Amino acid sequence: MEFNISVISGDGIGPEIVREAKKVLDRICKKYGHTFNYTEVLMGGVSIDAHGVPLTEEALRTARESDSVLLGAVGGIVGKDSWYDLPPQLRPEAGLLKIRKGLGLFANLRPALLYDELKAACPLRQDIAEAGFDLIVVRELTGGIYFGERKTEEIDGVMTATDILKYDENEIRRIAVKAFEIASKRRNKVTSVDKSNVLDSSRLWAKVVEETAKSYPSVTLEHMLVDNCAMQLVRDPGQFDVILTENMFGDILSDEASMITGSIGMLPSASLGEGKPGLYEPSHGAAPDIAGKDLANPIATILSAAMMLRFSFDMDKEADDVENAVKAVLREGYRTKDIMSEGCIYAGCREMGTLISERILEEV
Ligand code: NAD
Ligand code: IPM
Ligand code: MN
Repeated sequence: MEFNISVISGDGIGPEIVREAKKVLDRICKKYGHTFNYTEVLMGGVSIDAHGVPLTEEALRTARESDSVLLGAVGGIVGKDSWYDLPPQLRPEAGLLKIRKGLGLFANLRPALLYDELKAACPLRQDIAEAGFDLIVVRELTGGIYFGERKTEEIDGVMTATDILKYDENEIRRIAVKAFEIASKRRNKVTSVDKSNVLDSSRLWAKVVEETAKSYPSVTLEHMLVDNCAMQLVRDPGQFDVILTENMFGDILSDEASMITGSIGMLPSASLGEGKPGLYEPSHGAAPDIAGKDLANPIATILSAAMMLRFSFDMDKEADDVENAVKAVLREGYRTKDIMSEGCIYAGCREMGTLISERILEEV
């Protein structure tokens, strides 16, 4: 089969991790006789440097016309790099928000599962790590406080900043449906996370989720307040199957969920809308502190590429191959620095990508 993929390497470690994910995709092509045509698209700081904006209309069109988008990460050191001297709508992250909105990617899926091989890298108490967990954060991605009106103004001589958190029932319903659909193919449990003891937007959220649940009688729904959820993720992550939540809570909880899998460098993501293309990116950022040092863990990006194979190209067998290759390399004891533990073998970003891609040609 032949597909066109827009590749956004972005900033910081972006080019390093995307290079390794492409290495893996190329192996899949070789093994199965597929063709993936890559088109490089600029976004983030590199686009600001080239065009003065973090995402041009042409770049957005290229992405929209492709079958799927593979993204590394964008951004620099917030408040330090010169990109942050620009007004907010011209900074690197604005490109990311624009592409998410522009492609209608309202559903961000972030699966967090603790591999047996990584139990030693899990920062949780040993008995909790031993029990293991396999959850997915379903994060609303094109609404809420990220996309509400914001302004900074002087009121009566006092500097005042406002960010509006707004959701309508349709935005809530479509992400809720997504979460229930996903739960019905997993362990039939949805935990809807909100702050309904304070926020109106959360009270509407909980009501619409409750209504949606009626169409999924086999799925158990529970509601949890976000502060409790942050705590429960550390106390007993095994209780969760699908965590359904709004944009900002999902951003924060998914970083927490990533770390308990061993590292933020392990957590992939898929951002999906009603049609194509989907966008696939690691949950972490551009990690400017380790950029260019061959220290980045490419696994989150490689697993994001596996999600692309599964969701955008309907290639389950190929996606299984990638995921099994990751497990095989971990089982053999190879570790990047972020997931290193005693007795393991160090691998840099490039070597990790090579090892995983090599396992794909073998039957793993
Ligand atoms: P970050 O995720 O980039 O880094 C946080 C910490 O995790 C750093 O110590 C980093 O070295 C480490 N880390 C991240 N990914 C890693 C990997 N693959 N392997 C090993 N270690 C890894 O978050 P931050 O430092 O808060 O943000 C840096 C920049 O990235 C900011 O400009 C931010 O806006 C941007 N950002 C972009 C995205 C995205 O493009 N999707 C996501 C998050 C942050
Ligand atoms: C993420 C990132 C982005 C977000 C930033 C860079 C805008 O943190 O993808 O998790 O908050 O969505
Ligand atoms: Mn984030």
